[in-house]
Parts: sequence; C-alpha cells; structure tokens
Amino acid sequence: MKINIFDSKKELYDAVALYVIDKVKSNPEIHLGLATGSTPVPLYERLIIDHKVNHTSYKKVKSFNLDEYIGLPRTHEQSYYTFMNNNLFKHIDITETYIPNGEASDILAEAKSYKELLEREGVDLQILGIGSNGHIGFNEPNTPFDSHVHIVDLAESTIKDNARFFEGNLDLVPKKAITMGIKDIIAAKEIVLIATGKAKSKAINEVVNGKVDTFVPATILQKHPNVHLYLDKDAASKL
Ligand code: F6R
Repeated sequence: MKINIFDSKKELYDAVALYVIDKVKSNPEIHLGLATGSTPVPLYERLIIDHKVNHTSYKKVKSFNLDEYIGLPRTHEQSYYTFMNNNLFKHIDITETYIPNGEASDILAEAKSYKELLEREGVDLQILGIGSNGHIGFNEPNTPFDSHVHIVDLAESTIKDNARFFEGNLDLVPKKAITMGIKDIIAAKEIVLIATGKAKSKAINEVVNGKVDTFVPATILQKHPNVHLYLDKDAASKL
C-alpha cells in the first residue's frame, strides 16, 4: 500500500489529478472505476479543467461507477446518474459510461448483468472514497469479502452521513442501493483511495494498521497488490 499524505486538500487533489491524467494519457482506452459522494468532486473538477485546457481525451475511455441508489429517479439531482453527468461526464468527451440502474424493474437481473459487464470489461484504475464506517462502494460493515454486485440496505451511519445531500432530512435519503461487491472492487488492477477530514481518520487507521476484517470493509485493501492512498493531514491524523 502506498500512502501519500498532503498538508492541504489542494495539494492532495492536484497530485491525484495528475496521477489519473497521466494514466489516461498513457492508456487512452483505460477502464476507470468511478465513485460519487463529495470526495471525488475536486478530482473531477481538475479532470474537467485539464480536458478543456490540455485536451486530454476520454473518447476511448470507458467508465464504471461503483453504485447507485434504489428508488430515486435518474433525473433526481442526487441520483448518481445525474451526479456523474453534472460533475464530470457532460464536461468531457467521454461517451461510454456505465452506472448500475437503480430504477430497473428487475433489480436482481440488473445486479447480475452489471457483474457480468464488470467481468467482461475489467477495471484498470478504480477511484474510491471511504465511508466513516469503512465502507467502500456501499459495502457496509459485515459484507462478505467475496460479494459481487448486490442490493444493500444502507447502514444507519451512512444514511446519517448522506443526509447532507438531502436537505439534512434522514427520511429523504434512500435506504437501499445497488453496489459493486467487494470482490468486484478489488478485481481492479489498481486502486486509488482518497480520504480527507477527521471524520475519516478512524477508518483510515483501520485500513492501514487494522486487522483485515469484514467489520471494516476497506481493510481488504491490505490484500491488494496495487493500492495508493491519497490522504490529507486530517484523514491521516490517527496513523
Ligand atoms: C460513492 C461511494 C461511497 C463514498 C463514501 C464516502 O460512490 O461508493 O463509498 O465514497 O460514502 O462519501 P463522501 O465522499 O461523500 O464522504
């Protein structure tokens, strides 16, 4: 595990953006695994600026998102479909993007076909955030490490964490999601996990120094041969 700690968020995001842009330039057909939430937004802002200024092209890039809420229309501002369009896709020249469909009438069939898509295509570089409870994707504590794309009930702590995107109202936060499983996530050739802020410091300490245990799903990353952590001082404060 390579651990990069930065004094400021700006330095962190400048560095991680450079890293990702280099990967796209050296492999214009790269398959990117993408995350939502607040963590990747400053990365996406930098990718957009670089695309506009330096013309890094995403024409042949394919992207695969980690997860999507169930029970939220795609058109809802907080659906990950709309989030990705607003925060990245519509600003760059990417054409082939995949996000699990949380509106599918047969959600189990959707999970199966997203798993098969991931197996067929493979992810080269997976971008991850981390929940304050150590979740990756929406794999909440006690998710088996051999899980594939599946339907989850969001943990109480995740519903609370995400209420900030829903007018602070717990009732408005969807309670279910469809997510890549842990096995799908760690199948990526390379993983970049970004964490900022004190609220993530406990989970990050577990990821680096804790026992590999399903209770903190992200501890599985210790077993992956090619993981890069990008942390600000606060997220690294318990290391
Ligand atoms: C999002 C995702 C989640 C988030 C995590 C952190 O696609 O899979 O695991 O990365 O909940 O969220 P933020 O970045 O909002 O703190």
